[in-house]
Order: sequence, then C-alpha cells, then structure tokens
Amino acid sequence: MRSEDAARKLPLVVVTAPLSGGALALFEGRARVKLLDRRGPLGEAELAEALREASGAVTFLTDPVTRAVLEACPGLRVVSNVAVGTDNIDLEAARAQGVVVTHTPDVLTEATADLAWALILGVARRVVEGDRMVRAGGFSGWAPDLLLGVDLRGKILGLVGMGRIGRAVARRAPAFGMRVAYSQPRRLEDSVESALNARHLPLEDLLAAADVVSLHCPLTSETRRLMDRRRLLAMKPGAILVNTARGPVVDEEALVEWLRQGRLFGAGLDVYEREPALAPGLRELPNVLLLPHLGSATGAVRDAMARMAVTDCLAVLEGRQPEHWVV
Ligand code: DGY
Repeated sequence: MRSEDAARKLPLVVVTAPLSGGALALFEGRARVKLLDRRGPLGEAELAEALREASGAVTFLTDPVTRAVLEACPGLRVVSNVAVGTDNIDLEAARAQGVVVTHTPDVLTEATADLAWALILGVARRVVEGDRMVRAGGFSGWAPDLLLGVDLRGKILGLVGMGRIGRAVARRAPAFGMRVAYSQPRRLEDSVESALNARHLPLEDLLAAADVVSLHCPLTSETRRLMDRRRLLAMKPGAILVNTARGPVVDEEALVEWLRQGRLFGAGLDVYEREPALAPGLRELPNVLLLPHLGSATGAVRDAMARMAVTDCLAVLEGRQPEHWVV
C-alpha cells in the first residue's frame, strides 16, 4: 500500500487547542491529526462541526462536549479531556453512546494544591493588596497598622472534598500550623484520616468551625452551588473562602454580598461561576484575590497533561484500555 493510502486509513483525531510537551508527535504514524485554529472558546455548533468526522477528540475544559455534540458525531470513540475535571462533558450521553472519556489526574495534584495555598496565604496576609499599594506609590513608610492580616497558626483549615487535591492541600497544613477538618459524603478510611491528621465533619459543622474553607470537590449536579447564600452565611465570621475547584460550586453573587458586608475576611478565587465573566462587583472588592484559572498552570504539568491525554486517546483508538478512564 502506498504511504498516502496508509495515512488516509488512520483514524482522525481533532485536537481543539495546541498541546505542549511534544504531545502531538505521539500521534505520528498512528492517527491523522487536525489541530483547530480557533480564536476563542468554541460553541456547541462549532465543536460538533469540527468533530463530525473524528474518531478521537482531545479537548479542554472550555469545550462543551454536550449530548448534542456527541449525537452529531456518531464516529467518535474517545474524548480525552486535558483536565482532571470532566464537567464540560456530558458523561451520561457519552456512556449511552459508547464514547470513552479520559482525563488527566495526578500530574496536576501538587501544582493545584500549591496554588490553593498561594491563595490562602495571599488572602490571609493581603499580599496582592500590598503589591497594589506599593506599585501605586501608596507606601509612605512602615506603620504598625498597615494592611493587617490574619494568622493561620492554630486555626482550622476546612476542606470541602478530600480527593487527590484536597489531600495534597491537607498534607501542607502542618507546615503552617493549621488543623484540618474535611467534609465529603464518603468518610475516608481511619488510616488515611490519621495519616493526614484530618477530622471528618458534616458540611454545616465544617463551615461553622473553619477559619479557612478551601473547595476541592468536582462540579456535579450535587455540588453545583453547594456554597449557596445560606452556606456562605453559615461560614464563621471573618473566615476566608478559597476556590480552585470549579466556579459554579459557589453562588458568586452572594459571595460578593457577604464580602462587601465584611462578613468574611476575604476570598481567593481561581475559578468563576460564569468563567471568564465575573459577578458584578467582584473586581472592585479589595479583599478578594482573583486568578485566571491557573491551578495546573506550570510548564511541566501542562506538558504531562497533554502527553497523558494523547496516550489515552491512542490507547482507545488502538483497542487498548486507557489508563485514565472516566466512562
Ligand atoms: C483541571 O484539570 O480540571 C484544571 O482545572 C485545569 O487546570
């Protein structure tokens, strides 16, 4: 067979944004690749159009892989999401259609935990407020009451969700003298709890006790707006909220209201309810630290995520079990 004929027989994989770490090279001789040249996030119709002829897709968390998209692409066998979260994919529809979904756990755990701590420390010690003041020429000399923050030592860190990332955040807590409580539907085994020195609490009790609440649950129908107006109000007065999970876990408008009223000391957000849009009033608040969804954003982690997604995509197309299978 001529080599062009052989190449034509290879499965088509659509990659919706550039991949780092030389990941695209892994496809050579094993799949035909179409890398989308896009300017911004793809809508459902554009994504369906782009994937229509594809056997595989390598997608990102901004790609809406909905039921309509999946139904429009009957040849699709695998969607490899370059993210640990898969809330951008209709998993039920994928399962019903026999489309395998893979994700990229583990490689981003430590980087995301580091970023959660960057937000905790940044809010507690008003790091960005200080930076802004110095840059604006507002620093006129040391003063005893300048930008006073809160101490973390001896306080309670409340983790909502104790999967890989929650546990990595918990492992860092002793370095800052914090005690750990966590909440999630399923309690961890005793041995894991004692290794992490973490106490399981019902969510309402955790919110009442924690000085810092850090969110690490996936976005599902159960966790959408888990931190609603009532639960935000149930947080300890003067506490800090950190979200490196998914924006829709928090009612952002209610958060703005409680921050504005000074019920909370501050918040550190890496993700937003209607990302990339912000709730009205959020950007004007001095006591929030806002990041542009950087949880996994280190060069080495993004390289590893890209290679993991491509490897799993190829595994499915070549009839093997992918390592990081979701459905
Ligand atoms: C994930 O992997 O889900 C992260 O949010 C991506 O940075």
